[in-house]
Amino acid sequence: MLHKTIEEDIKKTAEALKKFEPKIQGKTFLVTGGAGFIGSWFCDVAVAMKGKVICVDNLSSGSKESISHLIGSKNFAFLEQDACNFSTKENIDYIIHMAAIASPPAYQKYPIESLDANIIGIRNMLELARASKIKGFLFTSTSEVYGNAPDHLIPTEENFYGCINSFGPRAMYDEGKRAAEAYCYSYFQKYKLPIRIARIFNTYGPRIDIKSTSQYGRALIKFVHQALHNEPITVYGDGKQTRSFCYITDQVEGLFSLLLAAGIDGEVVNIGNNRETSIHELSQKIIKIASSLSKPALHHPPHYDIKDDPRRRCPHTAKAEKLLSFTPKVPLEEGLKNVIGWYRDAVGIAP
Ligand SMILES: NC(=O)c1ccc[n+]([C@@H]2O[C@H](COP(=O)([O-])OP(=O)(O)OC[C@H]3O[C@@H](n4cnc5c(N)ncnc54)[C@H](O)[C@@H]3O)[C@@H](O)[C@H]2O)c1
Repeated sequence: MLHKTIEEDIKKTAEALKKFEPKIQGKTFLVTGGAGFIGSWFCDVAVAMKGKVICVDNLSSGSKESISHLIGSKNFAFLEQDACNFSTKENIDYIIHMAAIASPPAYQKYPIESLDANIIGIRNMLELARASKIKGFLFTSTSEVYGNAPDHLIPTEENFYGCINSFGPRAMYDEGKRAAEAYCYSYFQKYKLPIRIARIFNTYGPRIDIKSTSQYGRALIKFVHQALHNEPITVYGDGKQTRSFCYITDQVEGLFSLLLAAGIDGEVVNIGNNRETSIHELSQKIIKIASSLSKPALHHPPHYDIKDDPRRRCPHTAKAEKLLSFTPKVPLEEGLKNVIGWYRDAVGIAP
């Protein structure tokens, strides 16, 4: 059964996307990585709007639990397969390639698989797109393609080429995404495929991977866990490093808008919230909203997290506003309240 916050949020997102209904109803969406955090929300909204979803996921980090309520619906099919070699003869209208190993400890543990999901996965999906008469192709890239943007380029616009180490502990993810973007560009140029790229900034919400221990985006759920157990909040470094947190319903609305808006093939758009928040401030907010007795405790970060980790991250959102008329709506405090409520229920902590 769906948590009531998730159920309400799906309805609200479907309502916000109403103008796209004719482009969704009865259409088939192939979603790789659909059993993951963002993917499962994407599948939910597509099904709620009477789209048909084929969800392909190898369950390397995603879980069947996040889509179990959809299994059995005539508009949803789950295939436990790898995006790198998945093939189908079904008629597909849209392809969304989200499959990735997205958290730093996981992609550093599985570096080759991480490169493969982006590089071999995107090539396979682009070839499938070429063989089908698709209406749209969305690749979920990342703010990590910008690397460590200098202060004067924060918030970061899409035309910043990035500042990335190609031979370091984040290269398998960052360069994998950059190579996948280059594949998208090349297939767009050569075969005129209807490709759009979302550069996603840190996203959070109910169903975010509870097991995840990555440093910032998903540190949010670790902080929630620690706050609800009145444990010290493990803030790495001096806590002044920043991220910009986008609530999941805003993210999903942005992704659908980018996939379905008319006349923007070949565009790369930041999808995220431009309210920059320090990690220390995030920990304080969570403590307050959870009415917790926890205190932030500064920690030296583990090696995998500190090397090449961007100090600040914030999206420039003018392009999304102009092309998609899209602006995130959910304030951080409201989103945190939802996540804390959902997490309490998920792990059974009395309010
Ligand atoms: N969550 C964020 O803040 C964020 C930020 C930037 C970019 N992104 C991108 O958004 C997408 C979704 O991220 P998420 O947070 O939902 O991550 P997630 O780990 O929850 O989901 C990724 C899914 O991909 C699946 N997967 C991995 N390799 C696969 C393969 N080879 N074949 C099939 N399935 C495979 C995993 O099992 C998982 O279900 C990813 O492409 C990620 O890089 C996310």
